[in-house]
Amino acid sequence: MKFQTIEPSYTSKDGCRLVWQGVDEDDTDVVILNKKELENLVDIFAKNSTGDVELEDQSSIIRVNSDVTQFTLTNHRLLEAKTNDLQEKVLDFAKIPHEPQYVYVGTKEFYPSVWIRDDEKSLKDVPGKSPKVSLIQAILSSEPEKIRQDLSPTDLFRVFATRRSTRKFEKTKVEDWKVDKILSAADVAPTAGNFQGFQVFLIKNKDTKQALVEAANKQPYVNAPIVLVFCTDPSRVKLKFPPEILEKFSLQDATIAATFSLLAASGVGLSTIWIGMFDEEKVKTILGTDLKPSSILCIGYPDKKKPPKSRRKLKELIKVIE
Ligand SMILES: Cc1cc2nc3c(=O)[nH]c(=O)nc-3n(C[C@H](O)[C@H](O)[C@H](O)COP(=O)(O)O)c2cc1C
Repeated sequence: MKFQTIEPSYTSKDGCRLVWQGVDEDDTDVVILNKKELENLVDIFAKNSTGDVELEDQSSIIRVNSDVTQFTLTNHRLLEAKTNDLQEKVLDFAKIPHEPQYVYVGTKEFYPSVWIRDDEKSLKDVPGKSPKVSLIQAILSSEPEKIRQDLSPTDLFRVFATRRSTRKFEKTKVEDWKVDKILSAADVAPTAGNFQGFQVFLIKNKDTKQALVEAANKQPYVNAPIVLVFCTDPSRVKLKFPPEILEKFSLQDATIAATFSLLAASGVGLSTIWIGMFDEEKVKTILGTDLKPSSILCIGYPDKKKPPKSRRKLKELIKVIE
C-alpha cells in the first residue's frame, strides 16, 4: 500500500483526503482530515519538523518522523507514507484554495455519517454566489434539516454518498429478508409503459455461478453469495413502436431495475459489483434462455468496507442550459 495523492475532502475547502493505493486497482485506502488536522500537519511540514497530529477521535494519531510518517488509526491498519513525499504533496495542496463541496463525509469511518449542509453556511463558502443562482446548490441544500434528521443507514442520500463496489465478498450468507428487499426493489423500478420489459435470474446453483465466472472473462467475484442476472425482454413491451425502440426500452428497464437492486443492497448493508463485461451468448446458454443478458449484479457482505471513489466535480458533470 503506497501513499498516492492528496485531494479535496468532501467536507469543505479546508480538509483533505489522503489516498493510498495497493497493487490491485481496487485496493485503495483513504484518511480524511478535517480543517484543524490538516492545519496541524501543514504546520509541522512547513517547519520541516517532526511531531504528532492527534485526530478528532482522540485516539488516532499521525506521527511525522524524519523518514516515515505513520497513521495509527483506531480500528484500522497502520498506514505509512514517506515523509518527504507526503510533505511535498501536503504543502503543495495547502497552497491552493479548494472548492467547497456540500456533502459531508465524516472522518475515519468507512460508512461515514453524511449530511447536507445548511443553505446559508454553504453559500457563505462560495464567493460571489447568490442563493438563487445555482441549480446544484439548490438541489444539494434542499431541506437540509429534514434530511439530516432522517439519515439512517437505509437513507437514500447516505447510500449515494457511501456506496462503493466490492470485488471481495465475505462467505457469510445473506439473510432471506435482504434478498427479498433486493428483488422487490427490481420489481418497483419504473419501466416503459409499466410493461416491465425485463427478467431477473436469481442464481443459487454453485456450478452455474462458476460457469458465469467463465462467461464473464474469468472475473472471480462473479461467484458471489447472491448473483442476479438481469435480461432484457422486449416482447413484454406492448407498445406500438419499431423493434429497435422496444429493445432500447427493455435495456433501459433492465438497467434501471438492476440499479434499484444495487441501491437496495447497499441500503441493507451489503455491497455489490456490477458486471457488464461478459459473453452474452455464453450467458444465454448457461441460463437456458433466449433473453439477452444486460448486467450481472453480484452481491454480498464486503470483505472490507471501503470509502467511496472520487468523482469529477458536479460543475463538470452538469451543464446547465438556461
Ligand atoms: C455498465 C457497467 C459495467 C461494469 N462492468 C464491470 C465489470 O465487468 N467488471 C468489474 O469488475 N466492474 C464492472 N463495473 C463496476 C465499475 O468498475 C465500478 O462501478 C466503477 O469503478 C465505480 O466504482 P464504484 O461503484 O465503487 O463507485 C461496471 C459498472 C458499470 C456501471
